[in-house]
Amino acid sequence: MTGDKTEIAASRDQKSRIPCEVALRNGRHVLLRLMEAADRGRLLRFARSLPEDDLLFLRTDITDPVIVDQWVADVARGNSITVLAQAREHVVGYGTLHLEQARWTRRVGEIRVQVAPAFRGCGLGRRLTSEIFELGQSRGIKKMAAMMTPDQTGARAAFEKLGFQVEALLQDWVVDRDGRPRDLLIMSCDLKDSNSGT
Ligand SMILES: CC(C)(COP(=O)(O)OP(=O)(O)OC[C@H]1O[C@@H](n2cnc3c(N)ncnc32)[C@H](O)[C@@H]1OP(=O)(O)O)[C@@H](O)C(=O)NCCC(=O)NCCS
Repeated sequence: MTGDKTEIAASRDQKSRIPCEVALRNGRHVLLRLMEAADRGRLLRFARSLPEDDLLFLRTDITDPVIVDQWVADVARGNSITVLAQAREHVVGYGTLHLEQARWTRRVGEIRVQVAPAFRGCGLGRRLTSEIFELGQSRGIKKMAAMMTPDQTGARAAFEKLGFQVEALLQDWVVDRDGRPRDLLIMSCDLKDSNSGT
């Protein structure tokens, strides 16, 4: 756990280099770059290629063009920053930082990461998280939160390896895509502590 934190902190010490090409452990290369309005179609294709199980737990339905338009508008307004991972013409993952607009929680950012199943377990989620941390730190974010349901055991394990700890478990807090109530698990990571490698 400590080693993971040190590793991610070390990668954060380097200035964010996006856009850049990254070699993954599966031998594939992806381009990391900031999302633009012109990515709308690519994002929709990516969202619609995700397995039903992933879509079930998404906080917003990104297979819906209206939702993707709101996402693009959020990025244009500076309320969100999204780093895309692109392989050839296809989006294969993204990391998004949602900046809290309420004044008293403005030091907390929310991270959302999604990687295409074929690209999981190759270090892409870790790299996207590292880029989001870097972007968050440069905007004065002190704490990063990740939200999921307790059913997302893989995501929870991955975020624990990335240095996140359980902050809260809220009962029947969210409703999934099928309309079923679910508990909400909030995990968090203190950027200052992680950055110092402690
Ligand atoms: C969670 C997710 C983003 C991880 O992406 P990824 O590209 O597979 O992550 P990485 O390969 O960089 O792995 C990061 C660490 O988590 C671990 N990990 C990844 N998936 C894991 C799993 N299912 N179970 C246990 N550990 C896992 C890896 O071993 C790695 O640790 P290491 O570097 O010490 O070996 C990806 O599984 C995903 O998109 N899930 C669906 C979306 C989701 O639930 N997002 C979370 C809500 S924001």
